[in-house]
Amino acid sequence: MRVGMETHPFAAAPADSPTLESLSVEPLLTSEFDVDPGSVYERLRRTYGPVAPVGLMGVPAWLVLDYREVLEVLRNESVWRRDVRHWRARAEGRLPQDWPLLAGYEVRQTMFFDDEEHRAARQTYHSAMRPFQDGHSPEGWELRAAVARYADELVGMLAAESGRVGFADLAAQYTRPLLLMVTTKLFGCPVELSDEIVMDLWRMLDGGPDAGPATGRVLGAMTRLAAHRRSRPGEDLTSYMLLADPTLSDEQLGRELFMNAVYLNDITGNMVCNTLLEVLRGNASVRRSLSAGQVGETVNRAALANPPTANLCFRFAARDVRLGNFWIRAGDIVSPSVASAHRDLLAIQSSHLVDSAISTRAHLAWGAGPHQCPSAARELAGTIMTTAVGRIFEHFAKAELTLPPDQLPWRSGPVVRGLRLLPVRYELSAGVVVPGPPEGAEKTDGVVAVPEAERQRSGLLGALRRMMFGGRKA
Ligand code: HEM
Repeated sequence: MRVGMETHPFAAAPADSPTLESLSVEPLLTSEFDVDPGSVYERLRRTYGPVAPVGLMGVPAWLVLDYREVLEVLRNESVWRRDVRHWRARAEGRLPQDWPLLAGYEVRQTMFFDDEEHRAARQTYHSAMRPFQDGHSPEGWELRAAVARYADELVGMLAAESGRVGFADLAAQYTRPLLLMVTTKLFGCPVELSDEIVMDLWRMLDGGPDAGPATGRVLGAMTRLAAHRRSRPGEDLTSYMLLADPTLSDEQLGRELFMNAVYLNDITGNMVCNTLLEVLRGNASVRRSLSAGQVGETVNRAALANPPTANLCFRFAARDVRLGNFWIRAGDIVSPSVASAHRDLLAIQSSHLVDSAISTRAHLAWGAGPHQCPSAARELAGTIMTTAVGRIFEHFAKAELTLPPDQLPWRSGPVVRGLRLLPVRYELSAGVVVPGPPEGAEKTDGVVAVPEAERQRSGLLGALRRMMFGGRKA
């Protein structure tokens, strides 16, 4: 029982302040949000201030819109908890049955840990990812070489299919398969991961009607992979996670791999597409040599304009707390909107008050505070992005969007916003050798065949066969 406000270190919400449940909320995920989320954020700010109540598939939640408040939520872990068990509506059984966004939150892994359990898990990541962090270790070097090789193979496949001058969807034909190949290699997966896994991750993230079964399928695959690598350790992230924490069960490790699969295949992939878009919308005729420094700066600009994790995962208030113009009650659900917070940075940038290089680096695309993307993961993502973007402009003398930028279709979920397509017309650089089609297949015009032995060496033949004859390994 409380004696009085002054003896209590924290205030409780005044009884007459509106509760989340008492407010009428507008649904966030509308067709307007799909096309132009910026206008939706602006309207919510005008109406409610830095924090707004919104509906997420029939469930009310607080959306945090201003940079200052977003940073406060990300940094203050004693108030803003990650464990879904803090969510009052869930604990009281008030969520709609099979609410599709719950499936992902029920997968307990590092992102949803608090305090000591969280710190120990970060330490495991720190040790397990270290070998891949830079190019000085054999694993780091090999991974970097592999990313470049996969990128080259995929451009080769594009050209074998569409010719030296042609049309391509750089999302479906380049970025997604590239990240799947990287994940297969990094995780030490004995069979190639297929696009089906990406579709299942989207079903989970976007709250599709079959989000539950889709989550179950990916978790099952990742748990089997954990068991496989436990019996046959290799030089891969899965094996190194087990080495760093031998107490991890197959199920626990499977859940961690599941979350990393999201970051690699959806988040990093979207960041690659967004960076490509940033370059493509700038220059119709793309220079061949985009220096590493330039790519890094372009990644930052793209992350600021279109952060792939637009609205970060839910936090739950540990106690009553004032945020913006509202009193958030203990156990309320809150989503910090990085995309909306970035509008504040863009406004500062365009007002010329701050040097533009400073404000692009203040972006929150990696998160902030105790749950921010681990430094080893950021390095890894940075290498993948720089290589993936760099190789495209190495191989293409010209590349231009075939749709005006404002007509590109986006996938706007409650968390992730990413391009559905990145359609371009390209022209290969003169020096690029394109492999011929496999024996027995018809030759495409303008495609220069390379000797059989060379194709074998580059590992392209197998990939081409799979692509052309649909013989995907199970
Ligand atoms: C450009 C690519 C990437 C971006 C933009 C990104 C962004 C983020 C963000 C925003 C968070 C914090 C989420 C939150 O607070 O709700 C995060 C956490 C995390 N990321 Fe990344 N990430 C990227 C790539 C990766 C990659 C490649 C990996 C691993 C292979 C990875 C592993 C992780 C892990 C393990 C966490 C959880 C950390 C924790 O909860 O303590 N990320 N990332």
